[in-house]
Amino acid sequence: MGVGPHDKLKLEASFMPTLTIDGRQIDSPDGSTVIQAAERLGIFIPRYCYHPGLSIAGNCRICLVEVEKAPKLQIACNTPVTEGMVVHTKSDKAEDGRRAVLEFLLANHPLDCPVCDQSGECELQNFYMNFGLYDPRFREQKVKKKKAVEIGPHVMLDQERCILCSRCVRFADEISKTGEFGIFNRGDRAELGLYPGQVLDNPYSGNVIDVCPVGALTEQDFRFKARVWYLSSAPSVCNACAQGCNIDIHYVLNRPHLNDGARVLRLKPRYNADVNQWWMCDEGRFGFHWMDKGRLTKVRNQGVDSTWEQAIAAITAALAKLLEDGSGSRLGVIASSQLTNEELFLIREIFQSGLGAQVTTASPTPPGYSDDFLIKADKNPNTLGATLLGLSGPGPTDAASLIDEALEGRIEALWVFGHDLTNIMNEERLQELSRKLRLFVFSGTNENHTASWSHWILPTAAHVEKDGTFVNCHGRVQRIGRAFPPLPDSRPDWSVLLEIARQLNHPLPWRTPQEIFLGLAEAAPFAGLSYEKIGSQGVALGLPPK
Ligand code: SF4
Ligand code: SF4
Ligand code: FES
Repeated sequence: MGVGPHDKLKLEASFMPTLTIDGRQIDSPDGSTVIQAAERLGIFIPRYCYHPGLSIAGNCRICLVEVEKAPKLQIACNTPVTEGMVVHTKSDKAEDGRRAVLEFLLANHPLDCPVCDQSGECELQNFYMNFGLYDPRFREQKVKKKKAVEIGPHVMLDQERCILCSRCVRFADEISKTGEFGIFNRGDRAELGLYPGQVLDNPYSGNVIDVCPVGALTEQDFRFKARVWYLSSAPSVCNACAQGCNIDIHYVLNRPHLNDGARVLRLKPRYNADVNQWWMCDEGRFGFHWMDKGRLTKVRNQGVDSTWEQAIAAITAALAKLLEDGSGSRLGVIASSQLTNEELFLIREIFQSGLGAQVTTASPTPPGYSDDFLIKADKNPNTLGATLLGLSGPGPTDAASLIDEALEGRIEALWVFGHDLTNIMNEERLQELSRKLRLFVFSGTNENHTASWSHWILPTAAHVEKDGTFVNCHGRVQRIGRAFPPLPDSRPDWSVLLEIARQLNHPLPWRTPQEIFLGLAEAAPFAGLSYEKIGSQGVALGLPPK
């Protein structure tokens, strides 16, 4: 697996030719191309085969520009900048060239737009409206090819819609290095397909849907669920492994009929040069259905619906009694590396420093497949954050020891954040634990065995429903963003914790994740940081190498 060959311009290049594009001068690094120089000037040149993360193919010709003194139009994606070059991207000649290219590309393209999932984000539609608008002259029968072919578990191919830009071929050759795609035959019979016997099931297969500029490769999971213009988008970070790929969450709130009431329709990678470039893995991309399915929707006490007010009052009363009767060390807390730094910090302040409880952080999701590109074996997004806060790693006791202590009667109250303890014990022991404990609280997003055997269930917000930060496995602190509000009866863990502190008569001075982070940033390694400084691309904490 690897990154694209020219994903970053080498701005430090010693020779910087000066060229003029549409009357504006720019110094561009030697070896860079006209399309890259134009981009830095904010001039958009249309492209199909060009993708900044892939090698240059130069086969689609849509990026034609006029270069003074050149005998014919040049392709901007494969024309290196030279000293004194004068480029026109909007001259009549350049526009006529692009129109002709579009007319050729659309000659055999089916009239599928009304039934095509790409409609609304299709570069054939967009460029036709922006750069085409010719009068069609093609009267012949269009060439027929295969449609709606399942080429793997996630991707659907429509050969008629393919414009043979070869982006997907290059992705599979250069990035996933799995090489499933080829372009077969010649002329108007040329078609995109898989090599015989191949299935598109590599761990990064979904990225070919993103790189395909048209509706030839579409997503099976998202297929026909919504027209893309109904989607809203919010930036966040994937929580499915410790890499923390930057993502956009595409969701719909006001059209429940579109997706059986589910809000999240798809996840897309968001560019971050230091984390995931343009890519994400299939596990992260398609593993989001838990956000809308199997969610805990009510506060419950011993299986009976209750309210937040009753729950917080009963839990704080039980904690206060525990303190009266002995020491806080009879409270055990199993925090989670799916929680944000802000929430882990509150757990440390309230339970460990405030009450003297035994606190540990465990990983709710067990380790899994990893590779040397993006996918990490640790399937939790904030293990390093928990370690930096002193709640995980060498030192703190582990979850299994806390449970042993509880079964032996030395721990009388247990608060479990999001875990299913049947991952580390059988259900009989879980039942015994439930019987022995004076207080057993489960807070989390989804139903599981531990929730069923707890005394109190507190439904909490998913990471897409709250603000906060994670630290990825490379020591980069990144913000997750609240895309939409939590489900009606659930609350973010940070707000539950602040309320517990208030009712325990130890109110904390913060009201929002942003303020909690400022409290956290009073000490290393977060010192001096704020949400503004972290921004949309995160900040490397500058930790010593492991
Ligand atoms: S399927 Fe899409 S990405 Fe692949 S060659 Fe065709 S148009 Fe390009
Ligand atoms: S590599 Fe990890 S963080 Fe990135 S998309 Fe996959 S699961 Fe999510
Ligand atoms: S984008 Fe330049 S030839 Fe395709």
